[in-house]
Parts: sequence; structure tokens; C-alpha cells
Amino acid sequence: MELSTMLFLFVSFLTILFSKSLIKFFFSSKGRQLPLPPGTMGWPYIGETFQMYSQDPNVFFATKIKRYGSIFKSHILGYPCVMISDPEAAKFVLNKAQLFKPTFPASKERMLGKQAIFFHQGAYHANLRRLVLRTFRPEVIKDKVSYIESIAQSCLKSWEGKMITTFLEMKTFTFNVALLSIFGKDENLYGEDLKRCYYTLERGYNSMPINLPGTLFHKAMKARKELAQILAQIISTRRNMKQDHNDLLGSFMSEEAGLSDEQIADNIIGLIFAARDTTATVLTWIVKYLGENTSVLEAVTEEQESILRAKEESGEEMGLNWSDTKNMPVTSRVIQETLRIASILSFTFREAVEDVEFQGYLIPKGWKVLPLFRNIHHSPDNFKEPEKFDPSRFEVII
Ligand code: HEM
Repeated sequence: MELSTMLFLFVSFLTILFSKSLIKFFFSSKGRQLPLPPGTMGWPYIGETFQMYSQDPNVFFATKIKRYGSIFKSHILGYPCVMISDPEAAKFVLNKAQLFKPTFPASKERMLGKQAIFFHQGAYHANLRRLVLRTFRPEVIKDKVSYIESIAQSCLKSWEGKMITTFLEMKTFTFNVALLSIFGKDENLYGEDLKRCYYTLERGYNSMPINLPGTLFHKAMKARKELAQILAQIISTRRNMKQDHNDLLGSFMSEEAGLSDEQIADNIIGLIFAARDTTATVLTWIVKYLGENTSVLEAVTEEQESILRAKEESGEEMGLNWSDTKNMPVTSRVIQETLRIASILSFTFREAVEDVEFQGYLIPKGWKVLPLFRNIHHSPDNFKEPEKFDPSRFEVII
């Protein structure tokens, strides 16, 4: 073959290859040169973090939404971010784990334990989710209602004649309920030690992650270590007893769960964290809203008292049971409305695992994506008069 023919074939081959890549480039989301969402990125590295913290973060986000719409970009806490305030879009981001993975600062992972459910995806995550949900099935919770009631009653008794700090008391209450769900009847054996370590862990959770003696972070890390030792002791005692337990620890320790002791401990520590502060905060807001809305308080009181009266009249046992809890529509709506209006978790973080085309914009790989729960719950597009505490908005029209 002549040299010119060979050269021609070689150039043709390169052209074909190049054209193929070019076609692929222009027809993929990366190549189409999609624009980034609207918004501003602030200063290099610090971005708009100071603007966000120097005002109410919710006002910061609300101002951006007004200006740029329901999807916009910013740069906070050291990361480029895309904020989402449309409910359907938020649902999409939260449900597409293959595109948007959960992400937490490394210090949180160290503190709660790297094997905890929050930091994982895929089969390991699905297995943990199944094990957790199995323990909180109605059939399981059903049997715990009277225990939970007795915890509530002993809290109420301890408040008699005292001035209390509602949030602290709610934390004690939710901690005791968490211990009951996790350790069942063994809760009393380790309660005080767990509580002491847990309080220290919690105080350091949002501190600067500087692990030097004397810092809150250092104390929290020490408490975390002690918690792991206590849990190892509980697990080993249970293994020696060779009994089945109908609680979360029992579920984690079952053979088919296939979890190591370290995985069990990380998830127990993580779950107490997920369950306790959240629930205590919501309970505190419920007390506040009931205190401020006399007619709602009267309706809730009437609903609760009518359950008691019915029991008295029928001669039924007076303690609260599962079917009573199904008979509290007003109380349930108060809880739903409090979850909406208080929106105790303003937003969460996900991270784009690859370049993603989203509503005509590009979300680059590695950018954080924040579904803005609070702004969604406080938008008049989703809830009429969003700033009004109105449980009747959750009435179901039959
Ligand atoms: C009112 C109280 C609560 C609120 C407002 C709340 C809120 C949330 C939110 C928003 C998430 C998602 C975070 C994300 O994906 O980035 C979450 C996850 C989670 N919560 Fe709660 N939570 C509450 C109570 C509880 C309780 C009582 C438990 C105990 C069983 C619990 C266990 C979990 C777990 C295990 C996850 C991770 C789920 C997963 O990765 O699949 N939470 N919670």
C-alpha cells in the first residue's frame, strides 16, 4: 500500500473516532454545556457562609428563592451547593441514591461511627433499614404502649411542684423511650452510664472538630469510646445468655442480620442520636403551640379525656393501649402540623456522584445538593397561610 493511501486511511480512522467522541460529547448532559443553576457563589472558599449565618438561614434561603426560583446555586460551609425548594424535586433528589449520595462531614462519621446507617448506601444500608423498620413495626410497638405511658407518667410525677425546662425534660423522656426500644427490659441495667456518656457526646457533636485535650470534641470522642465499651459489654452479656430479645439490639444481633459487634455498636449509637434530639425537639414545640393556641389545646384535651371516659364507662382497663392511639385524630393532626411548622431539620445534604442534568441545569459531580425542608413547608405555594399554626389543614376530606 502506498504511503499516501495509508496516510489517508489513518486520517479517516482518526476523523471517525473524533466524530464519534464529538457526537457523544454533544449528546451527553456533560457535553451539552448546560448552564449551572442561577445564583451567586460569594467569596472564594468561604462562599456565602457568613451571609447565611449572619442572618436567619431560613430568611437567607427565602430571599434567594424569591430572586432565583426553586433551584439555585450558592457556596456554603466550604462546598459549592445547589439548593432545591420544590417538593417534587426534593423527593427526586432524596430517592435517587445512585445520583445523589448522602454525605456528612468526616468529624460526624468519626463521632457516630463509620458503620452507622447514615453513611452508607446499597445492600448494607438496605439491610440496616430492614432491621430498624422491623423493630418499629406496629405489631412490635403495640406491646410497648403501656411501658411508654408509664415512662411518661413517671416524668410527669417528677415535675410535680417544680419549675422545669421543657426541652431538657423531653430529652430525658425520649432517652428513656429510646433505651426501652433498643435494650428492652435490660434498659435499667445500663441506663445511667449510657446517659452520662451520651450527654457528653451530644455536647461535642456540633463543636469545632479539634481533638485536643480539654476541647468539647475531645471529650465527646472519649465518651464515644466509653459508649462503645459499654455496648460491647451488653452484647457479650447477651451472647452468653443465649436468649432471644424482641428489641432493636436483638434484631441487630440475630444471626440473619449478619452484623459484626462494631457495626452493631455504631448503629445503636447512631440511632439513639437520630431518635432522641429530634423527638424531644418536636415534643417541646408541641407544648409551645398548644400553650399558644387555647382552642387547639381544648380540642386535644377533650379528645384525650373522652378516651378515658369511654374506658371508665365500659369498665375497660384504664391504661393507654394501641387502639386508643388510633383514636386520636385531633392529636395526630397537632403532631403533623408541628412537624410542618417547626421543621426542626431545615435541610439535609446529598452529593452528586456524577455530573447530573437536572431541570435543564447542570449539577456538577461533587457538588452538594440541599433539599430545603423548611422553605418547602413554609411556602404559600404548598400550604395556605404557612405561618399560621392550623392543625385542621391536615384534616382528610372523606
Ligand atoms: C420527629 C422526629 C424525627 C424527625 C423530624 C426525623 C427526621 C429525619 C430526617 C429528615 C431524616 C433523613 C435525613 C437524610 O436522609 O439526610 C431521618 C433519617 C433517619 N431517622 Fe429520623 N427523624 C425523627 C425521629 C427518628 C426516630 C425516633 C428514629 C428511630 C428509629 C429515627 C431514625 C432515623 C434513621 C435510622 C434515619 C436514616 C434512614 C436511612 O438512612 O435510610 N428518626 N430522620
